[in-house]
Amino acid sequence: MQDGVAGSKTVSFTRMDLGTREDRDIIATFHESELTLAAEHCLSLLKKLRSPPGRAPWRVDRFTHSLQTATRAFRDGADEELTVVALLHDIGDAVSLENHAFVSAEILRPYISDRNYWLVRHHGLFQTRYYGKAAIHAEDRRAPFFDHPYFAATEKFCRDWDQMSFDPDYDTLSLDFFEPFVRSVLARPVYSESALFDSLHSE
Ligand SMILES: [Fe+2]
Ligand SMILES: [Fe+2]
Repeated sequence: MQDGVAGSKTVSFTRMDLGTREDRDIIATFHESELTLAAEHCLSLLKKLRSPPGRAPWRVDRFTHSLQTATRAFRDGADEELTVVALLHDIGDAVSLENHAFVSAEILRPYISDRNYWLVRHHGLFQTRYYGKAAIHAEDRRAPFFDHPYFAATEKFCRDWDQMSFDPDYDTLSLDFFEPFVRSVLARPVYSESALFDSLHSE
């Protein structure tokens, strides 16, 4: 074992199954310090949703869309966690356009309720209800979830906040306003590894 470039200890192994108990402790310490960076990582992803003027097809870029969604949620009485969910619901776009809702949901999952996780995971599908005139004649893709206990919360999120938030004239709050919310929610103790793995058994 030796000191790493940043002064941290370095493990002895080159393959995991040769790791020692001391190696495990070194990694655990590193893991703990990395977890404190969750808010920074999420804010960094959020800022990647900025687009130069004229680059994106919407009248506001996805960064402003996210701020506006959070602003509407906050002004509508959403609590701290749901406001953060509104702010970060599209961060998956920064790495995967094809399945952004799933990526966003999994990033936030350790810090948010089951309801809010379900909401973020399904918001992309629920948003198809609002694809303008074309959606009037399309099948309602939310139908399989009409009886789901989280349907109403997800419908409200999309109807009142998400699909509404493409307006350049709306009085959108700045990121400075929401940053303390993000740091608060993402500083929570995360689910244990076993809890996350246990969740696989219920799928
Ligand atoms: Fe989205
Ligand atoms: Fe959105």
